[in-house]
Amino acid sequence: MRVWIGVLLLIFTSVLPVWAEPEEIERKGCRDCHRFSSKETQAVRGPDLFYAGDKFRENWLKEFLQSPTVIRKVGYITDPGFPSGKPEVGQPHSVLTEEESARVSTFLMTLHLPDFETGKVDDVPLSKGVRAQAKMLFERNFGCIACHEALNLVGKVRGGVSGPTLVNSGLRLKSDWIFHWLKTPEKFLSKGRMPVFDMGDETAIRITKYVLSIRTKQ
Ligand code: HEC
Ligand code: HEC
Repeated sequence: MRVWIGVLLLIFTSVLPVWAEPEEIERKGCRDCHRFSSKETQAVRGPDLFYAGDKFRENWLKEFLQSPTVIRKVGYITDPGFPSGKPEVGQPHSVLTEEESARVSTFLMTLHLPDFETGKVDDVPLSKGVRAQAKMLFERNFGCIACHEALNLVGKVRGGVSGPTLVNSGLRLKSDWIFHWLKTPEKFLSKGRMPVFDMGDETAIRITKYVLSIRTKQ
């Protein structure tokens, strides 16, 4: 019996460091700008990370934290009354070393919303015909292109910048997260600036797959 308790303790203590928050988060002041739990109330200077494990692909996170790229060209804005709100632009993002980034990414991937449903979007890409229809939905019916960068037919970046760029977001975002963002954005952001669309599951899946296909890199 005692041996088993010992073994259990060993398992626990060897697992714990992986789940515990890495010290870089405190040391680098990530909390000054990001929320790592929905209960934190400060910081609206950067996007929420308390559902990072539902939203991001781990490889993208690892890469981004070592060499950050710009996703929101006009800065991070939370004011629904934008453009009257003042964006905070131009600050270069904190940079982590490879080891720090690996630790922080592993930790971020453990952050989930309690009721996040996975398995909504399968991995099968859209056929050419359906993709053309989805592109119409994206550009004309829903006007996503007015606020988001995407690619035109010859692969050139075009579109608005009031929302985050969607170019290569298939390497960055998880498909189920895009689906739920389109269907129930209030689960992630109480007062977003993106219109809430009334779309059925089928349409949301098509648009999600279209977004995933906006790529310049494989
Ligand atoms: C001075 C404020 C500030 C600090 C400090 C900061 N960040 Fe950020 N972070 C931002 C902003 C602003 C963005 C959005 C950048 C963009 O969209 O181009 C961002 C983006 C991110 C993203 C991508 C999120 C998304 O939805 O696009 C991750 C992940 C991230 N930060 C993690 C971290 C970690 C980990 C730390 C600590 C090592 C950190 N940040 C420190 C302001 C900050
Ligand atoms: C009026 C401008 C506007 C329109 C139209 C719009 N969006 Fe957005 N979108 C935003 C903004 C702004 C955000 C950032 C979150 C926020 O502030 O609400 C966002 C966030 C997103 C995100 C999450 C990106 C991230 O990295 O966090 C995705 C995916 C997205 N939009 C896809 C779409 C799709 C698909 C459509 C069309 C069906 C669309 N958007 C239409 C403004 C818009």
